[in-house]
Amino acid sequence: MKKGILPLIVGNWKMNPLSITIATSLAKNIKTAVGKIDDVDIVIAPPTVYIASVHAILKHSKTIALGVQTIHHEKLGAFTGEISIPMVHEFSVRYIILGHSERRALGEDDVTINEKLTATLKAGMTAILCIGEKKRDEGGLYLSGIEKQIRAGLVGVSRTKLSHVVIAYEPVWAIGSGMTPTAEDIHEMRLFIEKILSDMYERNYAQKVRVLYGGSVDEKNARELFVGGTVDGFLVGGASLHVKTFRDIIMSVRPTH
Ligand code: PGA
Repeated sequence: MKKGILPLIVGNWKMNPLSITIATSLAKNIKTAVGKIDDVDIVIAPPTVYIASVHAILKHSKTIALGVQTIHHEKLGAFTGEISIPMVHEFSVRYIILGHSERRALGEDDVTINEKLTATLKAGMTAILCIGEKKRDEGGLYLSGIEKQIRAGLVGVSRTKLSHVVIAYEPVWAIGSGMTPTAEDIHEMRLFIEKILSDMYERNYAQKVRVLYGGSVDEKNARELFVGGTVDGFLVGGASLHVKTFRDIIMSVRPTH
């Protein structure tokens, strides 16, 4: 954790839950469970079709912000099936997850991700850029893939915007698998990411970027991965759908823990 920056926990609901009734009660229960914590930044990112309803529940919350799981970079036009930044802005969405491996698997490439990221920052929102290797090789070749994802994702981003950039390191093999890297591996990756950012920008600007870990985070491994991994928080998938588990993960990163 860096000094002066609050830990960040993002709940990525993915394509869950099944109905708006369940989604609103989940949001209500999370809101009640976390109470008025002011030392962790918390974001929930429901499917976009639920944004209006979840916004109605969270709109007076100073504790939980809203995010979406992807976006289109254009404001409006002939883009069938897409949703734009101004459309979600109306619902106080402040965070946009970009380049998640499940979207990359559908064909989203680094250029598209960079367009979305640039548009997100231009709108004054925070971009959560997901990066991560599909598998690790003994020789460490996967590191050059990670570096490419970071550099390509941040093309054209000026250093003054970096406080609105979050990098989520999510090894694809750890997502939804119950497997995680060791805390030491995560720590090394954090240093590697910081080094790339420092090469791209001045070090004191590079340090404004929050680095999260994501992939099978739960209430049992959160504290160890947070402290040992020296990350600034987590991007949580499956566990963010369970109120108590999500709450416990949040509690495990509190500075007062
Ligand atoms: P998981 O997903 O926590 O279910 O592994 C993380 C993610 O994909 O963001």
